This record gives sequence, C-alpha cells and structure tokens, in this order.
Amino acid sequence: MDPNTFRREGHRYIDWLADYFEHIEKHPVRSAARPGEILSLLPAGPPDDPESPDSIFGDFERIIVPGITHWQHPGWFAYFPANNSPVSVLAELLTAGLGAQCMVWQTSPAAAELEERVMQWLGKMLGLPAEFEGVIQDTASTASLCALLTARERATNFKGNLEGPGEKLVVYVSEETHSSIEKGMKIAGYGRNNLRIIPAGDDFAMLPEALEAAMEKDLAAGLIPACVVATLGTTSSMAMDPVEEIASICKRFGAWLHVDAAFAGTAAIVPEYRDFMRGVEQADSFVFNPHKWMLTNFDCSAYFVRDAALLRRTFEIQPEYLKTDADSQVKNYRDWGIQLGRRFRALKLWFVVRYYGVEGIREMVRQHVALAREFAGWLSQDSRFELMAPVNLSLVCFRYNPGNLQEEELAKFNRGILEKLNNSGKVFLTHTSLKGKYAIRLSVGQRTTGRKHVELVWKLLQEYCGHPA
Ligand SMILES: Cc1ncc(COP(=O)(O)O)c(C=O)c1O
Repeated sequence: MDPNTFRREGHRYIDWLADYFEHIEKHPVRSAARPGEILSLLPAGPPDDPESPDSIFGDFERIIVPGITHWQHPGWFAYFPANNSPVSVLAELLTAGLGAQCMVWQTSPAAAELEERVMQWLGKMLGLPAEFEGVIQDTASTASLCALLTARERATNFKGNLEGPGEKLVVYVSEETHSSIEKGMKIAGYGRNNLRIIPAGDDFAMLPEALEAAMEKDLAAGLIPACVVATLGTTSSMAMDPVEEIASICKRFGAWLHVDAAFAGTAAIVPEYRDFMRGVEQADSFVFNPHKWMLTNFDCSAYFVRDAALLRRTFEIQPEYLKTDADSQVKNYRDWGIQLGRRFRALKLWFVVRYYGVEGIREMVRQHVALAREFAGWLSQDSRFELMAPVNLSLVCFRYNPGNLQEEELAKFNRGILEKLNNSGKVFLTHTSLKGKYAIRLSVGQRTTGRKHVELVWKLLQEYCGHPA
C-alpha cells in the first residue's frame, strides 16, 4: 500500500471508528448471528489476486460488523467489561504502526523503560508496596500461570525446572476461583488432582479455617502446600477473599500467595474503596487487568511480584543470539514471563493514564459503583426480586423470585427473562450459579454506561416480570 493510499484509508478508518463510538447504540449489543452464519459468508479459500481496499472494507462492514458483539456499547452488563477508550485505540494504532517486537531492551529501549515506569505508576495508583515490581502480561490467565510456575520453582528450590515438578505440590483455591487457575494447574505440571477446592461462605469468599485445615491435612500426608490463590472480586459474584487471614496462613506453611484481582483491582485506585485490598501487601504476586475496567483496550494485564528475581529465575533463558552488552543494566522482559516476543502494550497504558488522569479513572469507577448500588436498591425495594449475593463494587447478582416457585421453575423463568433482555438488543447481561441457584448478573463497568442504561434494564425487567402462568 503506497503512502497516499495508506493516508486516505487511515482517515476513513478513523472516521468509521469515530462514527462507531458516537452511534454504537444503533447496533444490537449481542450479535444476532446464528452459529455458522458468518462462516457461510466467507469464501472457502484465499483470493489469488489482490483485492481493493474498498472491497475489503465493504466486506468488513457487511460480514464482520453484524457478527460482532459490541463490548463498547453502554448497554454492556455481561461478564466483566473489556473497555477500550478512544485514546487507547489511538495508542494501539501507533503500536501497530511502529511494529516493534519488544522481547529485549535493545529491540526497543523506549518500550522496556516505559513499561517499567508505567508499572511503577500503576503500583502507586493501587497503593501496592514499593518493592513490588510489575510486568505487562497478555491476560490474567497468563499472569496466574506465571505465579503458579514461580510458586512451583520456589517450592522445589528450582528443581522443578530441571527434573520436572514431581507429584507432591498442592495448590489451593476457593470454589469461586476463576477457571484459569485450574487450566494453569494442568499446564504447570502440578496435575489437576493436586488442586484443592476450599469451600466459600455465605458471602462466597474463601473460608480461611477450611484452607488451614486442608493445608494441615496435606502436610501431614507428606505433601507440600505450594501456593494459594486468593481472589479479590470473584467472577460470579465479586466476592472478596480475606487476603489478610489467608496471607498469615500462607506464611505459616511457606506457601506462595497469589492474588487475582482481574476486574476489581481497578477499584483500588479509588481511596475510599481500597479497603478490600487489605493483606495484599503480604502477597507474593498480584494481578489485575487494565483491559477490563481501566479503559485500556484488550489485551493488557498488570502482573506484580514481590521478588522479581524469583520470577526471572523461573523463566530465564540465555540463547547466544539474544545476549546484548546492556543486559546487566536493563530489564529484558522476555525473562519475566512465558513468551519471547512481546507487544508494546505500555504505550496505550501510558496514554490512558495521562489522558484521563488518576482522578478521571476514579470518577468513572465511582459512577459505576453508584449505579450498581442504585440498581440493587431498586431490587431490594421490590419484593418480587431477590439479591443473590452481597453487592460489592459494581456487580449485582439477582433473580426474580415471587416466593411460590421451586428452584427448577425459578431457574427456567429467570433464564427466560435473561433471554428476553438480551434479545431486546439494547442490553446484554449474563448469568451464573451461586450455591447451585441460578442468578442473573448486572455487571456495570462499560465506559459509556450511564444511569439511563441501568434504568432501561430495570424498565425491561418490570415489563418481562409479569407473574408466570
Ligand atoms: C477473577 C478473574 N480472574 C481471571 C480472569 C481471566 O482473565 P483473562 O481473560 O485476562 O485471562 C477473569 C475473567 O473474567 C476473572 O474474572
């Protein structure tokens, strides 16, 4: 593509995105595509001859856009958000244009040093201890895998890397922990059977006494409690595991403590909400995702460790061709995680924090939390609805429950409500199961969500919640 065509097409794409952001509500939030529908519109093979930018872009609009579920729509209340922001998109465009592959310092000193600096900024923004050092990973799943691997190496005195992990290491999570840890167990060689699922209490947070008992039992059986994963903001209900108590148990057993705050971590930027972080200062590692709530487009996961030397020793590899004269003076982030090749993710984080300022991010979080609380207030004043979990931060779990239906009927009716909400095209919510009970989740966190969007959910609920026949 010659420079003039690039310039012309670039303007057109930015115009398209500006319109997209401005008029996003004309799209149904959840794509109405049926399974296989998009596939059937795509040619079975690649074109032999070059195609024009017009034809490619036309197909983007015709085929791809209808198959997109619009995460940036203000009616997004599903899962957790994956926010972008215009400034983050612009930074990502620069990253793509620069095309730097940032595996070692020399392959782009600015990328390495900006990453070091913005991770220090993030640590300060969240109130993390000064000795924590950060590195950007693609996802929380990868960051947690790094934690499991480093925990494995510390528990085996780095023999795991040489001889294989053996069979004696045990990892502890709660029944509400994200499935990425179970996946990590399989990949990191612990074996799924060495994952202990600790029960959660009525508030869906891990029960520390049950954790302690499980660790004692394993120790007595000759096993090694290697790692505990505590969650701040569980995926189903935003439960907060008691990190402070868990930390002191970990200390007693010499176990690694990893804290997964994938979504909720952003709320620690707000001083009055930061209380849930108590105990994090004693953790060995901590992850949160700016790509969820912090306006930075996917992917960008912030991973912090207390002792970066342990992380590096777990992953370090020194092929001759990657050695440089600067190695002893710089951070080579290839040794801070799994992948060798790395994207320049720090740029978008830098742009976002500077454009919004810490206060701007706080303001957004406060608004989302206030909206969730207001919605929960409406639910609790209507006797037909039931709150299914304590309302923490910006997540509300609820169901319609008029009081005269069996569990199965309740689940069926609420499934029906959810389908109607989502078929409206105006909002998108998802469900979960809490202690075996079906619950609808309203997760507030999309950058542009305002009061009218939450009100719309409430209005639609009123419309759909006539008593079942
Ligand atoms: C608590 C928690 N941990 C981990 C993850 C996985 O995040 P990622 O997609 O960045 O791997 C999620 C996803 O929602 C989550 O809620």
